[in-house]
Amino acid sequence: MCQNHGVAYIKPGQVEIQEIEYPKLALGDRKCEHGVILKIVSTNICGSDQHMVRGRTTAPAGLVLGHEITGIVIEAGRDVEFIKVGDLVSVPFNIACGRCRNCKEGKTGICLNVNPSRPGAAYGYVDMGGWVGGQAEYVMVPYADFNLLKFPDKDQGMAYIKDLTLLSDIFPTGYHGAVTAGVGPGSIVYVAGAGPVGLACAASCHLLGAAVVIVGDMIPERLAQAASFGCEVIDLTKDTPLEQAIAEIIGVPEVDCFVDCVGFEARGHGAHAAEERPATVLNTAMAVTRAGGAIGIPGLYVTGDPGARDSAAKEGSLSIRIGLGWAKSHSFYTGQCPVMKYHRNLMNAILYDKIKIAKAVNVEVITLQDAPRGYEDFDKGAAKKFVIDPHGMIV
Ligand SMILES: NC(=O)c1ccc[n+]([C@@H]2O[C@H](COP(=O)([O-])OP(=O)(O)OC[C@H]3O[C@@H](n4cnc5c(N)ncnc54)[C@H](O)[C@@H]3O)[C@@H](O)[C@H]2O)c1
Ligand SMILES: [Zn+2]
Ligand SMILES: [Zn+2]
Repeated sequence: MCQNHGVAYIKPGQVEIQEIEYPKLALGDRKCEHGVILKIVSTNICGSDQHMVRGRTTAPAGLVLGHEITGIVIEAGRDVEFIKVGDLVSVPFNIACGRCRNCKEGKTGICLNVNPSRPGAAYGYVDMGGWVGGQAEYVMVPYADFNLLKFPDKDQGMAYIKDLTLLSDIFPTGYHGAVTAGVGPGSIVYVAGAGPVGLACAASCHLLGAAVVIVGDMIPERLAQAASFGCEVIDLTKDTPLEQAIAEIIGVPEVDCFVDCVGFEARGHGAHAAEERPATVLNTAMAVTRAGGAIGIPGLYVTGDPGARDSAAKEGSLSIRIGLGWAKSHSFYTGQCPVMKYHRNLMNAILYDKIKIAKAVNVEVITLQDAPRGYEDFDKGAAKKFVIDPHGMIV
């Protein structure tokens, strides 16, 4: 009998490594013939996991976490035709059936068949369909032919694993934020947030040819990380209004494109930088984006937030000055990133050395036993992306 261990959410501020069930190729009582079992090579800790671990969701105790998974196929169901045992594959964090109306339109973040309670599913995430998470040694992946991206060469894949591990979520997510904000050659962009998603977005903006990429945050180490690959940075703990800080860099108080890589746990600016003000980023987006510009919003906003300070925010209602965005004809782009739309091309950008994404987000590889420390350091604002190596295959 094979063993399996995973990272379980226990209570706010606490995760634990537990012995968990070895995955079965099953969906309830039915054999999952379109699924595979993976031996996990790398699995990353995400800012989205932190929302749960900070007690800001209704995640139940015992939930096995982890939606950023890369692994080797060790067992495949009868109906898996093209993915083979032995393949090294990246798993998009969105679980998608490949058969519904949304999947057919490429909107795999809101697949209609993988979560009984709402469109869209993910591994190891509250309200996302109850799929077992992959911060573990082994995991089951359904609809394998549709979901998985096979790396062309296993040895090359392992040589680039610190970069390729980011294809399951934050690289495509940051890139999607940039694309939906309209970033292209010569764009002037503001990226709110210098966490891993913000840094991946900033690096993606450079890949897309942006002229200036400005990153704002309150954490000096994260801003230094953004500056290390050519971004301009704004320290939001300072009292200078954002418009003015932008004008000091580019001469005008407006940008072409704005990407919110923060989400609902946003803090205020200046004197309010230590306070949570969930509408701050969305309102500043409308203030500093040029008329006709677009605003990409990969940062997560929720339908329920038990930890919110006021009753409206507890239900996900924020005080947004939508009239300003309307008057400036802004476009807003929300939702989970449909990873599959981008992962193959971004894989090639990595394999052909067009981007050093692991360096941009500062990957640190840790063991599964060290995951609780990774969660703690990440929560304290470490300028790092923690990648768990459950079988010691990377270091
Ligand atoms: N849409 C998707 O598919 C998707 C995928 C992955 C992550 N996410 C979400 O993206 C967000 C970022 O993820 P992450 O891993 O980088 O998280 P993170 O928590 O590490 O980063 C958030 C950063 O925002 C900063 N911040 C707080 N208030 C700010 C403000 N007003 N202006 C600018 N910066 C501010 C924080 O200091 C922090 O550095 C999270 O909400 C996460 O859930 C979404
Ligand atoms: Zn993630
Ligand atoms: Zn679907």
